[in-house]
Amino acid sequence: MIKKAVIPAAGLGTRFLPATKVVPKEMLSVVDRPIIQYIVDEAVKSGIEEVIFVVNKGKASILDHFLKAEELEKTLELNEQSEQLNILKETYVPVKFTTVEQKTPKGLGDAILCAKDAVGDEPFLVLLGDDLVDAAIPCSQQMIEVYEKHKKSITCVMRVQDEEISQYGICAGVKLEDRVFDLDTMIEKPSVREAPSNLAIVGRYLLKPSIFKYLEGSGRRENEVLHLTDGMSKMMKEEGFIAYEFDGQRYDAGEKFGLIKANIAFALKRIDLRQKLTAYIRDLGIIK
Ligand code: G1P
Repeated sequence: MIKKAVIPAAGLGTRFLPATKVVPKEMLSVVDRPIIQYIVDEAVKSGIEEVIFVVNKGKASILDHFLKAEELEKTLELNEQSEQLNILKETYVPVKFTTVEQKTPKGLGDAILCAKDAVGDEPFLVLLGDDLVDAAIPCSQQMIEVYEKHKKSITCVMRVQDEEISQYGICAGVKLEDRVFDLDTMIEKPSVREAPSNLAIVGRYLLKPSIFKYLEGSGRRENEVLHLTDGMSKMMKEEGFIAYEFDGQRYDAGEKFGLIKANIAFALKRIDLRQKLTAYIRDLGIIK
């Protein structure tokens, strides 16, 4: 039922400069795969048939990553490097890719509006590359199951410490069942004092197409910035909105420490790296 996923990838990646001077932040790697590949894989495993990238100039390598690399393929075949060939072929995912342009960075709400025509009149997923979610059942698939039951737009949430509140959209509401809340409040990056709870919005959304109408009707902030949370809040008041506490581990790949943690966590899951990495960390003398 949910066939399209929007992946906003038009940010400047300033937190990772100079690494992101030429390379898009979505192409930074976690072990040996760029962040964007984990995000697209999550969408594909959840049954998505079309991925819509919202990009700006300089982000061509994001789409290139998923295109057929004929020369490289031939070379690997000639050299009988079948393992590498299989890894390469993992990037040939069975989805249609569409790209739309966000010319200037004017916030997440504006990025989603840029995808309006490409999405059309159907519910769709939004996956932010900043949030890597490691889960036995892909986070997006979990959301689709919640949507099938409640038929309302959904945002994923997790509990955060007071000192982290001002980095997130924060929401609150009534608990409907285990992990599911019917929301009555949403506010983008409040202070601890203003925050209605410690339920933070994580970069996974399942939105009905009416979100575009609410975004168009939302006021812009300083520098023409349009917050997705503002459009979602309007939608919540008229149509209702669900928060879902997903089952999985989320890594904030949008900041340095989060990306380092993701690298360690994903490396520890690899049979070829686990022992070496554990021994290395032990030898550093950090763990007694
Ligand atoms: C965006 C959203 C925010 C959400 C966060 C999750 O903020 O605006 O509501 O909590 O993603 O990662 P950003 O991290 O782009 O500043």
